[in-house]
Amino acid sequence: MLIFLDTANIEQIRQAAKLGIISGVTTNPSLVAQEATDDYETVVKTICSIISGSVSTEVLVEDAEGMIEEARLKASWAPNVTIKIPATAAGLQATSTLSQENISVNMTLCFSVNQALLAARAGASYVSPFVGRLDDIGHDGMQVVKEIVEVYKNYELPTKVIAASIRHPLHCVAAAKAGAHIATVPYKVLMQMIQHPLTDIGVSRFLADWKRVSPKQ
Ligand code: E4P
Repeated sequence: MLIFLDTANIEQIRQAAKLGIISGVTTNPSLVAQEATDDYETVVKTICSIISGSVSTEVLVEDAEGMIEEARLKASWAPNVTIKIPATAAGLQATSTLSQENISVNMTLCFSVNQALLAARAGASYVSPFVGRLDDIGHDGMQVVKEIVEVYKNYELPTKVIAASIRHPLHCVAAAKAGAHIATVPYKVLMQMIQHPLTDIGVSRFLADWKRVSPKQ
């Protein structure tokens, strides 16, 4: 399972990129707004200069024609831009057109297997089931991920499943077990994935033991 970073924070992206484990970035209007800017273009171009993998950039209109026009413009910002389009009727219409133009689409705000099946039929490169938001309303978000993966496998559909709306490290484990191709994780969750108290204790103990025999170091 590949790891994408779910943020528009440039510093976080720079830090995470240094680890060499980030294959892409997903943004959305809320994440860009959190950075107190409305200059989506500069944010995305900066991210694309740091990360060579897919960088998801969301459309800001609701009608199909508007989405197509906006997507064509945003796709010209950098070669690795992926356009995030919501799983609505207008979104499917726009995705069908854009995929024929070889513009990569990440169908976002996906909450059901049916939406994911239609996203794949429309030619989306990625589909993003929102695990945490489903859990929030008492549904089993990861079960939806699992079923999407199963249905895509049944029909050899090439659309990649991005487990999104990840809230904690156990979501990542479950997404990997469910067969998601990608998990897009907030920076905080990425840090939590790395941490283990026994690793920290082990490092301290090894260094302390070494100092006893080699005090000069
Ligand atoms: C995914 O692409 C979205 O940007 C994100 O995962 C949404 O997460 P949230 O439900 O925590 O806002």
